[in-house]
Amino acid sequence: MTATTHDIEDLRLHSRMYDAVIDEIDGRRIRIGADWLVDWASCNYLGLDLDEEIIEAVEPQLRRWGTHPSWSRMLGSPRLYPQLEERLTDLLEAPDVLLLPTISQIHLGVIPALIEQGTLIMESRAHRTIYDGCVFARGRGATLQRFRSGDTEELERLLREATARPVMVCMDGVNSMTGDVPDLQTYARLTRQYGALLYVDDAHGMGVIGERSHDEPTPYGRRGNAIVRHCGETYDDIILVGGFSKAYSSLLAFLALPTAVKNRLKVAAPTYLYSGPSPVASLATVSAGLDVNEKRGDELRTHLYRLTIKLLGHLRGMGVHTLNKDDTPVVEIPISPEHDLIEVSERLWAAGQYVTLAPYPGVPRDEIGFRIQLTAAHTDAQVDDLNRVLTELARDGALRPAIPHQRGPVD
Ligand SMILES: Cc1ncc(COP(=O)(O)O)c(C=O)c1O
Repeated sequence: MTATTHDIEDLRLHSRMYDAVIDEIDGRRIRIGADWLVDWASCNYLGLDLDEEIIEAVEPQLRRWGTHPSWSRMLGSPRLYPQLEERLTDLLEAPDVLLLPTISQIHLGVIPALIEQGTLIMESRAHRTIYDGCVFARGRGATLQRFRSGDTEELERLLREATARPVMVCMDGVNSMTGDVPDLQTYARLTRQYGALLYVDDAHGMGVIGERSHDEPTPYGRRGNAIVRHCGETYDDIILVGGFSKAYSSLLAFLALPTAVKNRLKVAAPTYLYSGPSPVASLATVSAGLDVNEKRGDELRTHLYRLTIKLLGHLRGMGVHTLNKDDTPVVEIPISPEHDLIEVSERLWAAGQYVTLAPYPGVPRDEIGFRIQLTAAHTDAQVDDLNRVLTELARDGALRPAIPHQRGPVD
């Protein structure tokens, strides 16, 4: 076992929250063997996986298109694809959109195609799949640099010193571990100033955060149209990547980009040329999901925000450390160094709570802990129960105390 997989192998061998087989679901509860647990590990932020309107929309499309087109996009795309690309272009207010099956495939295929022998500057906390795309590009001649997350001075130095062109900065939108929303305007200003492209993966923001308005029901903004609109930015020199596998509960991903770049990727991104497409059921659930988003999205996000504040407010009130500066539904709770992740996960399990474990090296050693994702399909009673369990863990010293600059209790 190598140093990089040792801790994860430990979880695989000894934790019931790793590699579980789920026997049954009932709303946001799951049954694993004889135990029913509340699921805080799914990223179905809007709860659309359980939405009757969406479930009913699948069968008519299957009757029309069969289960799977099985053409790569280069060969042909069911009409559903251009329809979705148009709708998404409107929702994001982007110049154009290209759909591909997954974000991982996009990073691996698109980052090398865009950068060729230029310079990639990657944020240190960017998602592992961005890193893989960058490493692949480096293998094909690109230069790869990293800057500490949030350190715009270091980023500016790297932008100034980059000689191999083009230059592209790659980062997460809503961060997958901390839930934080980066200050995209600052990054966009810097990258434009140095003639670089900004490549942003907003897997966790899509469907959750959106454009701001004076009458918005929550600080998530409206319409769930992702980080570029949320930060009031334009798409000039920004490529937005997002997916439907989280808030929209479907297997499909997208790039928001200029039409000229889209056309270039149609001949240069292996995923477009050679990978199989998303199943028809996924295209159908995205289509119905966009309908639901138009009709009820802001309502679902309001419920989601309320539950999130209930949890974060409780943690902050107890003085427990989380990685969250923003109030998104991705809540990472590091555990105390004297406590063991497997022991904590067993306590959560015994109390009927199923979470995502965050071992090293997925997170730095002082952030080892667990992550809770809230969804619009959770109930107030479920969050109350979770809060009780977290109170017990905090009382027993299993959670870290908040560090001084962290926010105090919310009311
Ligand atoms: C930020 C981020 N990017 C990419 C991915 C992978 O997305 P996909 O399953 O569409 O490949 C994830 C999944 O967790 C993610 O959190």
